[in-house]
Amino acid sequence: MKAQLEAIKSAAIAAVNAANDQTQIEALRVQYLGKKGELTAILKQMGSLSPEERPVMGQLVNEAKAVVENLITEKTTAMKEKAQQEKLKAETIDITLPAKPVKKGKLHPLNTVLDDMIDIFTSMGFDVVDGPEVETDHYNFECLNVPADHPARDMQDTFYLGENLLLRTQTSAAQIRTMENRKPPIRVICPGRVFRADEVDATHSPVFHQIEGLVVDKGVTMCDLKGVLEQFAQEIYGKDTQVKFRPSFFPFTEPSVEVDVTCSECGGKGCRVCKGSGWIEILGAGMVHPNVLRSCGIDPEEYSGFAFGIGLDRLTTTRYKISDIRLLFENDKRFLEQF
Ligand code: DAH
Repeated sequence: MKAQLEAIKSAAIAAVNAANDQTQIEALRVQYLGKKGELTAILKQMGSLSPEERPVMGQLVNEAKAVVENLITEKTTAMKEKAQQEKLKAETIDITLPAKPVKKGKLHPLNTVLDDMIDIFTSMGFDVVDGPEVETDHYNFECLNVPADHPARDMQDTFYLGENLLLRTQTSAAQIRTMENRKPPIRVICPGRVFRADEVDATHSPVFHQIEGLVVDKGVTMCDLKGVLEQFAQEIYGKDTQVKFRPSFFPFTEPSVEVDVTCSECGGKGCRVCKGSGWIEILGAGMVHPNVLRSCGIDPEEYSGFAFGIGLDRLTTTRYKISDIRLLFENDKRFLEQF
């Protein structure tokens, strides 16, 4: 009986060790340890033993059962662990995968030129100020010496939001806001978007950009205006660039001028870009009208000033030889990536 027990025990151990999945192990548990299992069956043969032999044999059977039981538990735990490890491995996220490349944008050519202008003017001591795109009739026209019935309003029709609010037609409104908030000496530029009722074509857009400039101090003259604009033009277009003043009219300046620079394409000889004249018009300017100074509480007997308004879009198209202003607003990446 003892030999039989040993045989069953070894067979059980070998079988459990050889098993390689949970179902097999479970079957072995039933086969050896179950109610009708082989080791249990041995106990039932104890009746044939002498009373002295019974406890000894009983103990041996129990020990054998414990050994097999432990082995099964160990094996089950090991298998569960292995399964868990395999599952974890299968579910791992590979964080070393390369990320999707981030596509970097570029500065819009309008911004590149604007940044250059800001550099030039701040180096001459100008501050940069901001003004609202939705402006009042008061700031956009009235204070700039353009009353309601003034013919200059025809050229600057715009989108009205109610009676007194409009999309600003010029950055000149910033002059007034600045003079109301600061005391002379004043030196500011105000870049921004402006709006006008205009048909879209290669040189016109209902939305475009201006940079307003304003200087107010004691003893400011037209020579200062010319000096500042010459400096600016030479930094933008090259140091041989010349500046020409032509008499003009703006309601908020007196005298007023239209400012031309020598064509950067042909150097003044005359070409397709300057339509043969050798000159390109880049801005309007003048000495701030005494009425305008007065409306902002500045005494024109004591102070004088000059102002100018530069078209940023024209400056950008001539600098990059862009033939159509619409290209600036279409947001076509193939176009924008060239700059
Ligand atoms: N605001 C004018 C326009 O849009 C441009 C201009 C001309 C601005 C003369 C000025 C100036 O400050 O002095 O046509």
